[in-house]
Amino acid sequence: MGFSDKSKLTVERKNQHLQIVMENDVVHRDSAMLEEVHLLHNALPELNLDELELETDFFGKKLKAPLMITSMTGGADYAEKMNYGLAEAAEMHGIAFAVGSQRVMLRHPEVTGHFAVRRAIPNGVLLGNIGAVQLEEYSLEQITGLVEQIEADGICVHLNPGQELMQAEGHRNFRGNLDMIARLVDRLEGRVLVKETGAGLSPQVLERLSAIGVRYVDVSGSGGTSWTKVESYRAQSKILRSAGKTFSNWGVPTAYSLINARRILPEEVCVIGSGGIENGLDSARAIALGADIAGFARAVLMAFMDNGVQGASDFIESNIYELKTAMLLTGSRRTGDLQNAPRVYTGKLLEWLKNSESHLGDKG
Ligand SMILES: Cc1cc2nc3c(=O)[nH]c(=O)nc-3n(C[C@H](O)[C@H](O)[C@H](O)COP(=O)(O)O)c2cc1C
Repeated sequence: MGFSDKSKLTVERKNQHLQIVMENDVVHRDSAMLEEVHLLHNALPELNLDELELETDFFGKKLKAPLMITSMTGGADYAEKMNYGLAEAAEMHGIAFAVGSQRVMLRHPEVTGHFAVRRAIPNGVLLGNIGAVQLEEYSLEQITGLVEQIEADGICVHLNPGQELMQAEGHRNFRGNLDMIARLVDRLEGRVLVKETGAGLSPQVLERLSAIGVRYVDVSGSGGTSWTKVESYRAQSKILRSAGKTFSNWGVPTAYSLINARRILPEEVCVIGSGGIENGLDSARAIALGADIAGFARAVLMAFMDNGVQGASDFIESNIYELKTAMLLTGSRRTGDLQNAPRVYTGKLLEWLKNSESHLGDKG
């Protein structure tokens, strides 16, 4: 395939990312703080496991379980197989699937096949992906074209300023991003999901997203894959290698970000809780803190790399069984009932909540 130098770099970067994530410790040193959320055991749940309701509305469709595979790849050598396989596993369990950044498609429409996986997920929610920084470079028509070309239900717009600053070739100018997101939300009549990539959304950023009418927000908090850490493995220059390490634990932890998302965003905004979700209890905790849907990237990727579609399917099935277990053991018949489940917050999460109150409302 005849890629330009810039696109070659994008493909090369995506290949390196996959390899680094699979072969190295790329997880935040500090946790997502979900383990500080203790849902209280209910020894008298008065529920039947078979009557639990997990169905959830998402992008005008119904998910069988409130889970999604968040954006990962496209453009890289292995991307097509991965996107098809993960989409297939998502469809098997009725959960949502988002492809990785479609940036490379804008210059090289011939890679559209890596992303156009509608055949693998004919009934489910399929989302596209693009970086907020790309919204400055391309027209709104080109961006909406990305959604149409893969027959997606909407598009994820990722915010990743920390990661960009750790890349030699990354963006340095983030002016105008919010305005461009507002225009895209308008153009796509709300079918836009704004997400971080593992560094979380602060209360102040959540307020600004709310103010422009964003209807889908994925906090993608810290505690799981750290993209500053991933970039530190790629960096060639001493300065960027050092910065990648220095900032490898930077971010707003998933639990803290979620509590604020539910407090700040209007009820009709759909919140996705991701960043460090490893199992179904993490999903249940994320939902208890205010997420409508829990999302995962690295964990399901590892399962897929281990045993293909079957591996990804097993991971999802296990996540659903554990989520149901947490629902039953907290007396929650519907997933939404988890938000009222009795709980105790401990340790660092409690400290973050206590110590941040006086600063809420500051600009940031
Ligand atoms: C291999 C890999 C590639 C990723 N590529 C993208 C991407 O192209 N666009 C995006 O929005 N997020 C991307 N992400 C970020 C994830 O969607 C997610 O926000 C982040 O990894 C935190 O979730 P986790 O802790 O479950 O991995 C990628 C993650 C992984 C592991």
